[in-house]
Amino acid sequence: MSNPNRPERRTFAIISHPDAGKTTLTEKLLLFGGAIHLAGEVKARGANRRARSDWMKIEQQRGISVTSSVMTFERGGVTFNLLDTPGHEDFSEDTYRTLTAVDSAVMVIDAARGIEAQTRKLFEVCRLRSVPIITFVNKVDREGREPFALLDEIADALALDVAPMSWPVGMGGTFEGIYDLARDRLHRPAADATGAFEGDSVQLSGLDDAKLEPLVSADGLAHLREEAELAMAGYASFDEAAYRHGDLTPVYFGSALKDFGVEQLIDALAQFAPSPRPQPAEPREVDPDEDQVAGFIFKVQANMNPQHRDRVAFMRMCSGKFRRGMKLAQVGTGKTIAVHSPILFFAQNRELADEAFPGDIIGIPNHGTLRVGDTLTEGEALRFTGLPNFAPEILRRIRLADPTKTKQLRNALNDMAEEGIMQVFHPSIGSQWIVGVVGQLQLDVLISRLQAEYKVDASFEPSPWETARWISADDPKALDEFVGLHRGAMAEDRDGAPVFMAKDGWEINYIAGRHPAVRFTATKDRR
Ligand code: G4P
Repeated sequence: MSNPNRPERRTFAIISHPDAGKTTLTEKLLLFGGAIHLAGEVKARGANRRARSDWMKIEQQRGISVTSSVMTFERGGVTFNLLDTPGHEDFSEDTYRTLTAVDSAVMVIDAARGIEAQTRKLFEVCRLRSVPIITFVNKVDREGREPFALLDEIADALALDVAPMSWPVGMGGTFEGIYDLARDRLHRPAADATGAFEGDSVQLSGLDDAKLEPLVSADGLAHLREEAELAMAGYASFDEAAYRHGDLTPVYFGSALKDFGVEQLIDALAQFAPSPRPQPAEPREVDPDEDQVAGFIFKVQANMNPQHRDRVAFMRMCSGKFRRGMKLAQVGTGKTIAVHSPILFFAQNRELADEAFPGDIIGIPNHGTLRVGDTLTEGEALRFTGLPNFAPEILRRIRLADPTKTKQLRNALNDMAEEGIMQVFHPSIGSQWIVGVVGQLQLDVLISRLQAEYKVDASFEPSPWETARWISADDPKALDEFVGLHRGAMAEDRDGAPVFMAKDGWEINYIAGRHPAVRFTATKDRR
């Protein structure tokens, strides 16, 4: 629950498949929130449509744009922290891990394509932590699938209850607006010469209101009445508790490109999305209203300047009020870090943060001291949990050009695995290390960092496997027997935990089905 002594925060991420419209929606959210003051600034970017901070541009020039940025905007007294989840070729373990630092998510779906592969993967990570999800069906200004088909697909594919909050009056060429089912308002486009919708919004007393008649075509109205009634009868009605549990998703229809439904989406985030909640930690849960600062590092941006090996650790604030210059203890190592120049991210530039509150993200420059998974407190020995490693989706053997550099390679891989950008496995048979990542670009970044930072020339070779699972069993005999049977596909991770490697998810399911006493897990808590 929100607390009057703590500023309102909504810390969220957008999950989607490439091209569904995440960038466009991000820009529009920032525009509505006043973070980008002139639409021209966005348009001026031309080919580079991405709403990135200046810093991100630098990263792009260096070709290491593999990180999530943080964008902050305000509206109606609420501060929204939008954590970018890199998609496309930038897809990495960071993308997944960003979702451990948010309180809710917006799922953007292309109305013509429905649920796609990457949306599903990201959704599964949200589900692990019961992150509540608001769905935005984008591109209703174009021909899309029937709303019923889309809603059923969301419900079936993700095993979620769906509650339509609005209903499109036609789509594509027949699009005439969106009916807000909860508030009984009709939002109408007024397509002008530029194609932008600067429509009006009319308050009605219900779908039977005669005022609707002159506002939409007879056909459109007949369809709307019939469909909306069927929808309200056929789908769950919005239930805030179920949404907050991650069991139900409210669904909004709109068009990010044409500014349609974006405002309703922001209103929904402000009204329903949770403000920071208690966070699981050991030995006790941490409540956002506690006085003392506590937070965790969910990502580390390395190599901003290869000469200095400087890094920025992104900390999610979980409790207390942070002030610049504060000393924070890195739990576990006993080190104290004076945070003199923390960074808060606004859309266009980075700004020095003077204070930060639960739900905020601060960037802490450091020289490699801070690692993903670290807990920072004012002194209490706490450890936030639930920041897992994720099973890799690409496995490669790594080959050294110069075999005398084995030690350097080992150190480099160890460092980078600690940063959380990749994982390294030692196969039971053979001596070549295996590197695991979730996105292709990570492999290129790895090779160039090995060279630039560790002076190690290495390349990748295909491995017979693409994915891996951590395995465990209550009965040690069952585990030993499994390992014995599959020695050729076994490896150990950095902590010595057993890992089973496989060609694909299908093989894992097949093998798991034959070994019911063995657990196969796609995530493992970081130590
Ligand atoms: P992404 O970040 O999820 O990958 O998607 P992005 O916003 O880049 O959008 C992908 C394409 O879809 C872009 O077109 C964008 O203009 C378009 N798009 C986004 N939202 C809407 C919408 O509501 N309606 C319609 N009709 N299109 C939408 P593009 O052709 O790839 O780029 P551009 O040349 O138009 O900039």
